[in-house]
Amino acid sequence: MNLTVYAARKLEGEVVVPGDKSISHRAAIFGAVAKGTTRIENFLRAGDTRSTLRCLEQMGAKIYDDGNIIQIEGGVLPLRGQTLDCGNSGTTMRLLMGILAGREGESTLIGDASLSKRPMDRVRIPLEMMGAQITGAGDKNTPPITISGAQLVGREYSSPVASAQIKSAILLAGLQADGVTSVIEPSLSRDHTEQMLPAFGVEVKRDSLRVEVSHSELRATQVHVPGDVSSAAFFWCAAALRPGWKVRVNGVGLNPTRTGVIDVLQTMGAQIEIENQSESGGEMRGDVTVIGASLKSTRIDGALIPRLIDELPILALVATQCEGETVIADARELRVKESDRIAILSAELRKLGAQIEEREDGMKICGPTKLTGAIVTSPHGDHRIAMTLMGAGLIAQGETTIENADAIQSSFPNFPDLLAQISR
Ligand code: S3P
Repeated sequence: MNLTVYAARKLEGEVVVPGDKSISHRAAIFGAVAKGTTRIENFLRAGDTRSTLRCLEQMGAKIYDDGNIIQIEGGVLPLRGQTLDCGNSGTTMRLLMGILAGREGESTLIGDASLSKRPMDRVRIPLEMMGAQITGAGDKNTPPITISGAQLVGREYSSPVASAQIKSAILLAGLQADGVTSVIEPSLSRDHTEQMLPAFGVEVKRDSLRVEVSHSELRATQVHVPGDVSSAAFFWCAAALRPGWKVRVNGVGLNPTRTGVIDVLQTMGAQIEIENQSESGGEMRGDVTVIGASLKSTRIDGALIPRLIDELPILALVATQCEGETVIADARELRVKESDRIAILSAELRKLGAQIEEREDGMKICGPTKLTGAIVTSPHGDHRIAMTLMGAGLIAQGETTIENADAIQSSFPNFPDLLAQISR
């Protein structure tokens, strides 16, 4: 599907974004493992989280959706000879690998063309060290992944990458393993798993970059999912593109492991107002307004990267409007997301007139540059590139057409409608 965006005179308004994708996946997966009925409010209804629900149902969980609350009756997951389709969702595949590693029987995980290219060794290797048997296609590193579960043995694993998917898969395996399982990260990735497990009755020990669990039974609970900060980021960054543009996003998750985008926008010079902060289930939330101003370049690297990894595409667009040279470094992980986001962003934003140099671990972006409408292409299955290119269309002169814009379905199906509501 193609979408055409016209230059906006002004962006102004207030929106509520759908529930957080990472938290929705975890609430559903933990609920399916837990004894009893878990109730989830504000669950994200989008392609990726539907993939998780479908897999869990196939695995034996009973799921009821009244259009408002999702209820999951968990506790019995038979898992034998199943082929589970994870669609476009890396989180679904990697977290389910952690569950399946400790269950009796063999299962195969498959995905769409994008997911079928993504590396799974990062999860396969530690889970094999704990006792599971896992094979992948060809090089073993990519889906389809076949797992034979076993009685696992806990161990300590130092992850070479700061990745919440790796950390969560190992911890989920650890809950089924004998002894103690721990993960040490090079810098802190999103910590929703650690925040949510205690609500399911699991003791989680944390000491800076190390997190530890032991064999535990999960008990059902209630989860209220906050708005997705990664979806909100598209509106905040769009507001930052022009002085005086203003967007408020209400009820959005403000977990500090996710809010790097707010810090960077502030450093660039955008005006930020945070109101009505509260906490529930270890997750902060609040209402955040961003008001555009003249922006200056900055450097985005190091421990900041995992705190805004999914926001780098839209921040790269903002960088095209900053005075000076913005450098994004230490972000090699962007090459193994739903697409090679470094290569694709550089190529597509350049078609609109941006000055971007592709680097092995990031990008150098010079600004401010005037963008001009063109036909641009989002790779099949990369929702965040599609939404970034729509954001670019708001400031590009004339008409910008985004090919394959239907990728947006993975995380934020009503993004085009909400954007139209606040565009003047
Ligand atoms: C996610 C973790 C991140 C992120 C992805 C969702 C999660 O991936 O990019 O969109 O829910 O755990 P990595 O763990 O691979 O960094």
